[in-house]
Amino acid sequence: MADHLVVFTPSGRRGRFEEGTNLLDAARSLGVDLDSVCGGRGICGRCQVVPGDGEFAKLGIVSRPDHLSPWSASEALYRKRKGIAEGRRLGCHATVCGDLVIDVPPESQVHRQVIRKEAEARDIAIDPAVRLYYVEVDEPDLARPRSDLRRLLDALEREWGLAALAVDTHVLHELQRTLRAGQWTATVAVHDGAALTAIWPGFVDAACGIAFDVGSTTVAGHLCDLHTGEVLASAGAMNPQIRFGEDLMSRVSYVMMHPGASGELTGAVRECLDTLAGELCAGAGIERETVLEVTLVGNPIMHHLFLGLDPTELGGAPFALATDESVRLPASALSLRLNAGARAYALPCIAGHVGADTAGMILAEAPHEGDEVVLLCDVGTNAEIVLGNRERLLAASSPTGPALEGAQISAGQRAAPGAIERVRIDPATLEPRVRVIGQAAWSDEPGFASTQVTGICGSGIIEVIAEMRAAGILRGDGTIDGGLQARTGRIQPEGRTFGYRLWDGVTITQNDVRQVQLAKAALQAGARLLMDHYGIDTVDRVRLAGAFGTHIDPAAAVAIGLIPPVAVDRVSAAGNAAGTGARIALLNRAARAEIEAVVRRVEKIETAVEPRFQEHFVAAMGIGESEPATAGTRRTRRRER
Ligand code: FES
Repeated sequence: MADHLVVFTPSGRRGRFEEGTNLLDAARSLGVDLDSVCGGRGICGRCQVVPGDGEFAKLGIVSRPDHLSPWSASEALYRKRKGIAEGRRLGCHATVCGDLVIDVPPESQVHRQVIRKEAEARDIAIDPAVRLYYVEVDEPDLARPRSDLRRLLDALEREWGLAALAVDTHVLHELQRTLRAGQWTATVAVHDGAALTAIWPGFVDAACGIAFDVGSTTVAGHLCDLHTGEVLASAGAMNPQIRFGEDLMSRVSYVMMHPGASGELTGAVRECLDTLAGELCAGAGIERETVLEVTLVGNPIMHHLFLGLDPTELGGAPFALATDESVRLPASALSLRLNAGARAYALPCIAGHVGADTAGMILAEAPHEGDEVVLLCDVGTNAEIVLGNRERLLAASSPTGPALEGAQISAGQRAAPGAIERVRIDPATLEPRVRVIGQAAWSDEPGFASTQVTGICGSGIIEVIAEMRAAGILRGDGTIDGGLQARTGRIQPEGRTFGYRLWDGVTITQNDVRQVQLAKAALQAGARLLMDHYGIDTVDRVRLAGAFGTHIDPAAAVAIGLIPPVAVDRVSAAGNAAGTGARIALLNRAARAEIEAVVRRVEKIETAVEPRFQEHFVAAMGIGESEPATAGTRRTRRRER
């Protein structure tokens, strides 16, 4: 029989195939990434391909759509039921009758990439831990007695090569009813290629997962389609543990002082996660049973609490974690009402103060893959700081306090509509212009007049301090220059110090400036300490993560010396990197092995026991662009090597 050349793009893989070979078989034999859930039965539509039309000189081939067999009855039926875009064919039914260039579009690739918008961000390859398989199971036969389960497992091995599967008990409970309801066809979910975790009658192709980011103040969840990687719904809620204490340490103290309270905090956060899961499913219009997978990140105390681990040891030195391994468990063990076979995966913590949220940030930012030395900072009440590249990675946590989140600032508030987030001060008149969240116009532009100003958020605080310094209102040591009262009514006495009236009801007091100085000194000192350990005095790039990092103006961050010296264009926002890391671990199982390996080699630096931390802290208290290390101690990475 004649054979023909078939070239698959974009992989460029090619081979000669006998006339009549279907494209799914051809693709598989060449290792081309072409999806299928139904095993070539013309049901799932995942195997769609586009035959090329014309001469492909570079590939040395002339391809025509009619070099494929005419439309089969199954393809026509699929087209009638679900529609196929013009020019596409079902790879499992179209067979080779001439030379062909076959394009596999991204949505037909099993390991398609989810393109992340930011230039610095890496794409996510879709390869979730759980996959769906459609099977046709032999009917029971008196002449050849085998159990329903045996025939199902035989079919999975025969059709999909899945052998030695463990079977969840709840699948056994549903098995006989399901097989009969599906008239001996079923779709199963297989986790990590090893465990049969769910079963539905007939063909099903919806599988979702939720990535949770459990913060001390807020809990966020992203519901993702495990096939496309698309985020179907996102939702957030306040962490209900706040009723046991505003900050982490007060919650640990509550646990220490009330025997059994750990369970209460665990119950509260789990209930919150479950409610959020319900909201996400409702928002996306899917059933809870469709959710087969969950990933979680959180700081060490949150991580311990949602897993039901007592966080007491994290309340004091030496801050011992119960485990620094990733944790895999049934989602039902976290009281999550999802598919009965859903699995949960908690990313590993790194150290007593550096949690699974930081592991998520590393996964999202992948500093371990590049040559550039990157400084990653996630600023909250503590700043989690990671420094390094493919050679070394170091991590620490630094006690920045809540000032950078707008707390403990006289007119501070969270980043929400009405909060001042941008500030400019005219150095000649000392008059400010501001912009607030939720209003595009600056205060001196039309459209601002009726805007309600409710306070100032973290990024606004950084900007106002930078602008006050640039305008000469602040001295280098951080004191507000009371002598300027003669020039402007905006400088007002506040007891023995002075304040700058930025807006009606928003005055930047000397104490506000001090709070920011303490916070920025802590962040800078943590970063410097890691740089000392690495043996460098500059970094190639800075990425600021979290809500604060997303809104901050890099120029202001550099201007006040929040971060070590670096060109402004080398500073950028990383968004919610911890949540993104949870989403990567949800969509790509190899990422789990990757972060587990990376975390093992992260060098943990404990700021509390390092005398140099205090030195750096004191040196970083001034307001102004930070200086590189002194000439005598100046070292560079290259010289170090
Ligand atoms: S593999 Fe399912 S339709 Fe082709």
